[in-house]
Amino acid sequence: MCGIVGYLGRRDCADVLMDGLEKLEYRGYDSAGIAVFEGNSIRTVKTRGKLKCMAQKLAEDGKPEGFCGIGHTRWATHGEPSDINSHPHSNGRVTIVHNGIIENYAELKEFLTEKGYSFVSQTDSEIVACLLDYYYTGHDRMSWGASPEGRTDAPQSKLAPDPLRAIMETVKELHGSYALGILFKDFPDRVYATRKGSPIIVGLGQEEYFIASDIPAFLKYTKDYALLDDDEIVCMEKSGVGFYDVHGIAVKKQIHTADWDIEQAQKCGFPHYMLKEIHEQPEVVTKTLDSIVTDGVPDFSGIGLTDELLRGVKRVFVVACGTAMYAGIVGKYAVEKLARVPVTTEIASEFRYMDPIVGEDDLVILVSQSGETADTIASLELAKSRGARTLAVVNVKYSAIARGSDMFIHTLAGPEIAVASTKAYSVQIAVLYALAFRFAYARGIMPESEMKRLTAQLYGTSKAIRDVIDNKDECQFIASQLMNAEKLFFIGRGFDYALSLEGSLKLKEITYIHSEAYAAGELKHGTISLIERGVPVITVATQRHVLAKTVSNMEEVKARGATIIAVCRKGTEFAEGTVDIKLELDIGDELDDMLIPLPTVCALQLIAYYTSVQRGIDPDKPRNLAKSVTTE
Ligand code: M6R
Repeated sequence: MCGIVGYLGRRDCADVLMDGLEKLEYRGYDSAGIAVFEGNSIRTVKTRGKLKCMAQKLAEDGKPEGFCGIGHTRWATHGEPSDINSHPHSNGRVTIVHNGIIENYAELKEFLTEKGYSFVSQTDSEIVACLLDYYYTGHDRMSWGASPEGRTDAPQSKLAPDPLRAIMETVKELHGSYALGILFKDFPDRVYATRKGSPIIVGLGQEEYFIASDIPAFLKYTKDYALLDDDEIVCMEKSGVGFYDVHGIAVKKQIHTADWDIEQAQKCGFPHYMLKEIHEQPEVVTKTLDSIVTDGVPDFSGIGLTDELLRGVKRVFVVACGTAMYAGIVGKYAVEKLARVPVTTEIASEFRYMDPIVGEDDLVILVSQSGETADTIASLELAKSRGARTLAVVNVKYSAIARGSDMFIHTLAGPEIAVASTKAYSVQIAVLYALAFRFAYARGIMPESEMKRLTAQLYGTSKAIRDVIDNKDECQFIASQLMNAEKLFFIGRGFDYALSLEGSLKLKEITYIHSEAYAAGELKHGTISLIERGVPVITVATQRHVLAKTVSNMEEVKARGATIIAVCRKGTEFAEGTVDIKLELDIGDELDDMLIPLPTVCALQLIAYYTSVQRGIDPDKPRNLAKSVTTE
């Protein structure tokens, strides 16, 4: 969602901020802005639209010249995307950028209005600037309410204005989630930030410092960073960086060094991040497996997920959102099939409010690329409060979910920039398969030799994914047949159904074609009424034990005029006239059916990608979507 950057150093601040915002574009946004100290005054430039609109505005109005400032990309929540609602927002002596939602903003607005403040935007964020000013200028310590005009001439509090105190007082009043970058007009060489629920990372360079919602924003300048925890405050000034707790007491922070470089966060010759990330899958699947496999078998004892613990688990919940939740469905099928433990996959936004029956004997697995998804974080807290063991399968080290869970498996997809998740999904399911093998072994259902065989097969999916990528022209051809479709369906059974859900999400989110995924046997219970001449039905038909059943379902829709695109193993035969286009996956006969989702999803991702491009859409930045969903 919104992206925050801040800079203090010797470089041209506006350039650094714009560069950082560009790196955060993947989060999704509809407007942008920066505020930079020019001498002792703050100059703000902001506009609705993409960064190119900002660049144009800076060219027309002149770039603010200075070395200290904050910037923002906004994903509208309160108030439409407009110049006025864009950040930064200023009120009194304070300028801020905000990511998150202030739930009690209406109440605070009423209070501040009574105190004589007025507002220009429809945002919840402007209230924060105002409240900061209220505490900063000492209005809370005066016995009278200031008038809007008289405020600056009003008698001052006896205490000197103190930014730290103002932030501490302000955050006490805020309900909801926030990451804030803050400038105080009286301190032209300081940037403050604080957070609760939304990330702030502090980049530590040589006599230059950064704040950002994500590391790529400053990776070009430094790899060293510290993570601001909830309720902490950071103050960056020329002499260094100070961290404070909620009481204003200085705290010492651990310094981390990013283990990936700017190259990994760039397109490297690919036209889009999404295509680059699809191509990275063979490598990141192997890398992730290497990190959890010892002597040819998955071993999670190092993170405390011992065989003894796995033996004691009565039920498993996989809780996640979107693509990560669909990865959870693959995990459910694998764990139930192999380890015979009941697994429920839950949408995090439902789980957190449904008063789930979950307790000490249960293992709750939180799956997330970003590790910052608000509903998944809340589900984690709920699971912990009920005494369940929690396991994070997360791609971002030190993220809230990774740090908050009892156990953490780090998926090693590297930075995923495209909004549509691809490589993160693949490593998530690779981990869940490995977990299923170990689960089955720990419970005495699977001998070690079989666990070894399946682990070797899992490694083999890396080559199978590469084979699919090598045949991407076929996916491109299918895309050319789909690009004018108004609606389409995905169907499949078992693992193929789980994949259909993901294939359909991928396609709809970046092509804007209405797509639905159904268990193949379920269509005739209602949805088949939507099938008419020419409607494409992508049938995922890789699971041999249910192939005959899936074929019957293909014939049902074919009889009603559907155009059938079958995604299947090479050599799969269908009766003449059933299939219009066959995408045969040339992945060899050896690969276990259960593991086929890894190469197959790659084909579905490529179909979605090429359809998006052929429809003239930027697949990296689909409309209305944000990469990291840090609000409910
Ligand atoms: O960061 P997370 O994995 O927790 O994000 C969950 C979803 O928002 C995410 O998977 C989303 O569905 C993807 N953009 C889909 O491609």
